[in-house]
Amino acid sequence: MTKLTIIAFDGTPFELDAAPGSTVMENAVRNSVPGIEAECGGACACATCHVYVDEAWTAAVGEPTPMEEDMLDFASDVRPNSRLSCQIKVTEALDGLVVNVPERQG
Ligand code: FES
Repeated sequence: MTKLTIIAFDGTPFELDAAPGSTVMENAVRNSVPGIEAECGGACACATCHVYVDEAWTAAVGEPTPMEEDMLDFASDVRPNSRLSCQIKVTEALDGLVVNVPERQG
């Protein structure tokens, strides 16, 4: 299992055990992390799973695909470390990953 920490906008940390191959969004939804709506169910078609990747992890997580970048245009307050959490696949290399939920989606 890979440890993930998803920090809600109010600062509450959700420390989760995530299965490799699952997405960060799936783990957030399964654990009822507030602020991850994931309206499209992970199809990269809604931008309501927007997160900020902790600065220490941006290189390991990598860059969004062009399709994800297009969808991020619909998110609020996009930053250089913005990603759609349904497009971040959990791997063992991401053990300890920290992401932050933005104030609001869409
Ligand atoms: Fe819709 Fe991620 S869940 S883009």
